[in-house]
Amino acid sequence: MNILILGSGGREHTFAYKIAQSTKCDKLFVAPGNAGTAEIAENLDLNPIDFAAVANTALEKDIKMIVVGPEDPLVKGIVDFFKNDERLKDIQIIGPSGRGALLEGSKERAKEFMAMYDIPTAAYESFSFESLEAGKNFLETLKPPYVLKADGLAAGKGVLIIDELEEAKKELENMLSGKFGAASKKVVIEEFLDGIELSVFVLTDGKNYKILPTAKDYKRIGEGDTGLNTGGMGAVSPVPFADDELMGKIEDRIVKPTVRGLQEEEIDYKGFVFIGLIKVKGEPYVIEYNVRMGDPETEVVLPRIKTDLVDLFQKTWEGNLDQIDVEVDERAATTVMLVSGGYPESYQKGKTITGLKEIDNSIVFHAGTKKDGEEIVTSGGRVLALTSFGKDYKEALKKSYQSAEKLQFDKMYFRKDIGFDLS
Ligand code: AMP
Ligand code: GLY
Repeated sequence: MNILILGSGGREHTFAYKIAQSTKCDKLFVAPGNAGTAEIAENLDLNPIDFAAVANTALEKDIKMIVVGPEDPLVKGIVDFFKNDERLKDIQIIGPSGRGALLEGSKERAKEFMAMYDIPTAAYESFSFESLEAGKNFLETLKPPYVLKADGLAAGKGVLIIDELEEAKKELENMLSGKFGAASKKVVIEEFLDGIELSVFVLTDGKNYKILPTAKDYKRIGEGDTGLNTGGMGAVSPVPFADDELMGKIEDRIVKPTVRGLQEEEIDYKGFVFIGLIKVKGEPYVIEYNVRMGDPETEVVLPRIKTDLVDLFQKTWEGNLDQIDVEVDERAATTVMLVSGGYPESYQKGKTITGLKEIDNSIVFHAGTKKDGEEIVTSGGRVLALTSFGKDYKEALKKSYQSAEKLQFDKMYFRKDIGFDLS
């Protein structure tokens, strides 16, 4: 069958890499894609949130399956758009309905959902501009640091962690006054949890689920997890401290009630649930839900999955996820992101990338790249993800770093301490 992947990052290149290996895939398209996806699929000049254009292309190219990479089209209701159109409703679109996507699209909704199904998470309250004074009073009842979260999507920038009470009050007011536009018209204030983070990925058809390999990403720009937040500077899978005991707790207390909640609320959900977790004194708590795969976590999770991805998606679509096993490569995988100097603030694009042909010990997933004549040039902050395998994460990382040394572009930067907190 013909398959379309929506998105343009390292996550989408990884999806393309796996799907291109499936015997079930005839023609593969990525919209809009990057220079990496262009090598294994056909890039289409389409904006994933222009649903009418996606629909027309799907019909024109006889596309039977669509994999939605980023959250934006999901939160805007792409799945409902397809389901509600007679001509499109049989296209297997992997991702939740708009109601399902609210688990990521609204932090308040996510917290209410967790409260409803007794899913462990930080204590919280949510406020609007009208309740600003109550919000300030609530902050006074908490211990620092203070966690303020814009309710809506804010491109990963909507969470502030602040040490000083007065500053937290001021930021609360700024947020409610439109610091993040409509996304911060409501703000969730929650208790700070002190622990170590990990991510668990679940594929669900709305009633059955499969837990995929765990991963840990490194979000800050600087070594030792310092400096500004980025989309993610590297990742490791599996997470060494996610042992059977912790995973058992996560499955019983978090994954099962999450899927039960979707079912009880009759939410149409055929896609990924990415659960951001924090382990505090041995116990798991949910920090956030995302309704898609993570980036760069995908670059370490999917390469470890040996089961045909198209088969998995087909079973998801049919509601028969209980009829397939997920086979996982025992080896560890790591990825290291090469980014443009200056990212996540301002940076230059259009820098020529050299050394790509010399990489033989890693898989190179393109994130922000494009073709410029015969050259491949940078076109984003995060440029390339170098994924490697090893018997453990240290061995894998060594290969990712050896590969990094073979690549060059002007002002290239990467963190040299991915996995630093694992041993
Ligand atoms: P989010 O956008 O929800 O993933 O939040 C961004 C980051 O803020 C998370 O990855 C955590 O590192 C941190 N964070 C969010 N909520 C909390 C919390 N309640 N306690 C401690 N850290 C948090
Ligand atoms: N790496 C975190 C995310 O994709 O949201």
